[in-house]
Amino acid sequence: MDTTFDTTSLKLKKEYPDAEDFLPLNGTDYVELYVGNAKQAAHFYKTAFGFQSVAYAGLETGIKDRVSYVLQQDKIRLVLTSPLSPGGEVNHHLDNHGDGVKNVALWVDDATKSWQETTKRGAESAFEPKTINDQNGKVVMSGIKTYGDTVHIFIERSEYDGPFMPGYKEWKSEYNPAPAGLKYIDHMVGNVGWGEMNKWVEFYAKVMGFAQLISFDDKDISTDYTALMSKVMTNGNGRIKFPINEPAEGKKKSQIEEYLDFYRGPGVQHIAVATDNIIETVNQLRDRGVEFLHVPTTYYDDLIDRVGPIDEDLSELKKLGILIDRDDEGYLLQLFTKPVADRPTLFFEIIQRKGARSFGKGNFKALFEAIEREQELRGTL
Ligand code: FE2
Repeated sequence: MDTTFDTTSLKLKKEYPDAEDFLPLNGTDYVELYVGNAKQAAHFYKTAFGFQSVAYAGLETGIKDRVSYVLQQDKIRLVLTSPLSPGGEVNHHLDNHGDGVKNVALWVDDATKSWQETTKRGAESAFEPKTINDQNGKVVMSGIKTYGDTVHIFIERSEYDGPFMPGYKEWKSEYNPAPAGLKYIDHMVGNVGWGEMNKWVEFYAKVMGFAQLISFDDKDISTDYTALMSKVMTNGNGRIKFPINEPAEGKKKSQIEEYLDFYRGPGVQHIAVATDNIIETVNQLRDRGVEFLHVPTTYYDDLIDRVGPIDEDLSELKKLGILIDRDDEGYLLQLFTKPVADRPTLFFEIIQRKGARSFGKGNFKALFEAIEREQELRGTL
């Protein structure tokens, strides 16, 4: 995987010289979700997705107001946090948004400089650089606000070798379901409000030094009902990709609008996680109870004409409902889960790249039609 990153980064530097790497991001450090019941959510992510128990913070570690479970699968680290008492920002977030992503933490070499450089360029601070210590060393962290109530935390952990961070202890569980082959976060998508996409594109360009990777508009992505605009922002080494969606006017309410209504504002729409064997991974996830969107089997009728020859057995892909798209550099296989919590908001994408560096534009129509069938059932179309 590291070689993929290196190749990508070389290409990106040539193609996107305007992605100015004043804050080199080494990768996604963790994604923190605020959830209604962290203990049960942790069970779900272990059982259904194959995450492993890593660390815990709560009453037993001296934390009085919240509890956090840290889970990991290869390079993907999730933190699930719930409040232990009324009031406070976690409850406020839950009350507004339901379960959802609060913090997208980025791994940096210098969290102080990252905060200084981004706030200097116009970022609103979420919290100033601070150093936290325990017997395992120190972590420096700082935070800036992005769309909605979402925060980017910069994490500097070169002098830390504990299980996660000071304040957390190792979480030894007797229940350890096998991993499902999920490797790293490929991209994370944000939904922003009407007319706000360019504001956030500019934020990632100016404040974070990102470049725009690909753009498509509502002419590319629309069905009878759903329309959206989307732009993909990437950092200089290509390790962090943040597509940003804005709703567009359609005949009825689009999935982006539905998200904004139920999340009550902008937020993370989906987390795309990479596997190097999507058939194996999706087989496992289905067996473990992960629910995926269904595309009609007619999707596969002219598939080979559209995408050309592929290595995988088409009947296997059809059986699992895996989607395929091709661009100039290769192809990709992808599949989307249904929303993972109660509100129709956050979902996951499983993706396997075979050369393609795009995001499955050719599948958007089929995908949106599948989402619309779900929206119809919810009465939100
Ligand atoms: Fe995606």
